[in-house]
Amino acid sequence: MKTEVAIIGGGPSGLLLSQLLNQAGVATVVLERSSRDHVLSRIRAGVLEAGTVDMLREAGVGERMAREGIPHEGCYLTDDDLMVRINFEELTGTSVMVYGQTEVTTDLYKAQDAIGATIIHGVEDVVIQDADSNAPYVEYTLDGARTRLDCAYVAGCDGFHGVSRKTIPADKRREFERVYPFGWLGVLSRTKPAHEELIYANSSNGFALASMRSETLSRYYVQVPLTDKVEEWSDERFWATLKSCLPSGVADTMQTGPSIEKSIAPLRSFVSEPLRWGRLFLVGDAAHIVPPTGAKGLNLAVSDVHYLYQALIDAVKKGDTAGIDAYSERALLRIWKAMRFSWQMTTMLHHFDGEDIFAAQMRKSTLRHLSQSETARRDLAENYIGLPF
Ligand code: FAD
Ligand code: DHB
Repeated sequence: MKTEVAIIGGGPSGLLLSQLLNQAGVATVVLERSSRDHVLSRIRAGVLEAGTVDMLREAGVGERMAREGIPHEGCYLTDDDLMVRINFEELTGTSVMVYGQTEVTTDLYKAQDAIGATIIHGVEDVVIQDADSNAPYVEYTLDGARTRLDCAYVAGCDGFHGVSRKTIPADKRREFERVYPFGWLGVLSRTKPAHEELIYANSSNGFALASMRSETLSRYYVQVPLTDKVEEWSDERFWATLKSCLPSGVADTMQTGPSIEKSIAPLRSFVSEPLRWGRLFLVGDAAHIVPPTGAKGLNLAVSDVHYLYQALIDAVKKGDTAGIDAYSERALLRIWKAMRFSWQMTTMLHHFDGEDIFAAQMRKSTLRHLSQSETARRDLAENYIGLPF
């Protein structure tokens, strides 16, 4: 088999890149380890930056999002004493869109089908060969048969646990990492959202987030020790903990019900530099992970695609390599800013086990400062709605 760009991973970044390349007449093959149903069942991100919304529109998948997505003009940050609204629209002139990652992925698969793109599910033992030569190829096993895919370029869109990053020799990359001593327990439930806007709560009982997917579908998170197992969290225990972290006016009136999904995600900041080795380019979670507190993971994956797709079109169609030569540096500048914001939000909103009493005072005074300073709120809003590409 032969293609122009081999894309490893059919998550949001791989599908979006494939869609934009196919629209421009660049041939791709997407190799995905899991089934389509499995990819679509992973409940993850929920908040799209305006730049992400624009990119999805450009990829021809903006229609359902425009109908079913919920524009949010602000969000709340709270602690035991204060409830501070960050008014994105007033502070930045822009809003964000609440539209789940599963919906984004569903729309992209549909668009890929319509355009006749090749997505191969169930591939095993993917190996990227000769990425530092002019003739890379990818080997994989499908239904027991080993297959070779020749290509001009390889895009590594296979997430944190994928093979792409590890293909780059250890002495050619540098890794930066911070692992946080807690995770997020997430619950999806068919209930009316607790509030019309998102609430990020830093309470004396720990962190909680009240989010949503629609008027009848809620998404909530609470901070849990890394050692906790999902089985230890009955729905009753989850609702009681969530309510103990949210402002009482919200907790007392919120609707609860059976969970339809429950999972624990560890929190980590991670960057692997550079994003390129020869003809292999890393995109999204394959290269970097942010803790979810700033809602940046999916949005960063999309901004990587923004920097890479036109560069690949120019390289394939015109032999112009200026874009691909600049990709890693350009993308990393924005990645590090989102790393900083996600780390700052995480530090500001979570209780760290074993911390001293000074830390809690710092969190308290950060929120107090936000409540009193429009400059501080604007800075947060500017980062939350997404820095320019
Ligand atoms: P992924 O979505 O990880 O997609 C990679 C794809 O590659 C997967 O489909 C995988 O099956 C496939 N793959 C992996 N290895 C191979 C291989 N060897 N061969 C072939 N295919 C392979 N972000 C937020 O903004 N808010 C959130 O609340 C949030 N929650 C999250 C919860 C969890 C549990 C996780 C893991 C992530 C969360 N994120 C969140 C981050 C966000 O979902 C990711 O940033 C986003 O999915 C990145 O997209 P991606 O396409 O780069 O990677
Ligand atoms: C959601 C997840 C986040 O990490 C976040 O910061 C905001 C919303 C969500 O799943 O809805």
